[in-house]
Amino acid sequence: MKPIGSLRRIGAMTAAAMAAGALLLASPALSQQQGKLKVGLMLPYTGTYAALGNAITNGFKLAIEENGGKVAGREIEYFVVDDESDPAKAPENANKLIKRDNVDVMVGTVHSGVALAMAKVARDNNTLLIIPNAGADDITGPLCAANVFRTSFSNSQMGIAMGKVMADQKKKTAVTITWKYAAGEESTGGFKETFEAGGGKVVKELFLPFPQVEFQPLLTEIAALKPDVVYAFFAGGGAVKFVKDYAAAGLNKTIPLVGPGFLTDGTLEAQGDAAQGMLTTLHYADGLNNPKNNAFRAAYMKAYKSEPDVYAVQGYDAAQLLIVGMNAVKGDTGKRAELVAAMGAAKIDSPRGSLALNKGHNPIHDIYLRKVEGKENKYVSVAVKNLTDPPRGCKL
Ligand code: BEZ
Repeated sequence: MKPIGSLRRIGAMTAAAMAAGALLLASPALSQQQGKLKVGLMLPYTGTYAALGNAITNGFKLAIEENGGKVAGREIEYFVVDDESDPAKAPENANKLIKRDNVDVMVGTVHSGVALAMAKVARDNNTLLIIPNAGADDITGPLCAANVFRTSFSNSQMGIAMGKVMADQKKKTAVTITWKYAAGEESTGGFKETFEAGGGKVVKELFLPFPQVEFQPLLTEIAALKPDVVYAFFAGGGAVKFVKDYAAAGLNKTIPLVGPGFLTDGTLEAQGDAAQGMLTTLHYADGLNNPKNNAFRAAYMKAYKSEPDVYAVQGYDAAQLLIVGMNAVKGDTGKRAELVAAMGAAKIDSPRGSLALNKGHNPIHDIYLRKVEGKENKYVSVAVKNLTDPPRGCKL
């Protein structure tokens, strides 16, 4: 029989070994709740969508600053990649953020083709991804994933709303025109769906490759077709040029040009007279009179000395969503199931109004009809209340 003292020593050694083992087991989780939270911003900072990437970045950082510069007590370390709106470079760019920089969360991007590639990398690596713009329908449809969220919209939503508005206005014929990639095809596809269901007919669907802006031959075709209305999806620098070219060709005098709000959001300064009176549909309008929007616009103006646009709102809401999830797990990204459950169930007080997510983690929100007056996209009415996407084969 061992003396009591030895037993005590063995007991003490066992306890020490157990404590060390427990520490070893606990350390991965500990490291996920300590230190800086690594956020990878993968956005366009050059090219036709550069202004959109900058506005998203500003909006995201504003929400973080309003939260004391931290998320659930953790400071933020940003890793920034210019994705150039180039889908071919997207897998490498996303992999750099995940494997080289070891980010906890990726935020991006604007271009649907780039986002489709990013979402695949995020799914393959089980990295948290928040999409603050790109609307590719499939990402929150058949390709939905527990770790992928969107705080913007899906591409077909704005077209669905405008198709209904134009059918209600008894327009009979329409031409659609856009860049040939997911965003343009899905936006014009949504328009066609509801416009034709309401008794109209899309007589021609015109396309040009992204990001080309040689619109002249297509404008000549529109003039010859003489539809009752033209629905166009363009954004950023391309939207500025299209709206100006349309007016310069004199078409705005006879054929109303309408579209998703991307056609006139963040672009009115450059479009000037050419955009006046245009109707668009979007989940945001400049003068929305709710307390959150009023505070947001004032804070954005103070921080950046410029008016915010829809892209800034989407970046702001991406950070708001991250904060909800991180608060729920007290900053411990290791608690993934609780983190994504809290994000999925979030009710966000957004400058756009209330924002919730559907099963595929895509926004449920009101879509507004807006009219350009001076430098503002003025609220006209709610075009579709609480628009939510069909499940589209999402298996979450
Ligand atoms: C997109 O590629 O999904 C997109 C780009 C700019 C504005 C809206 C959508």
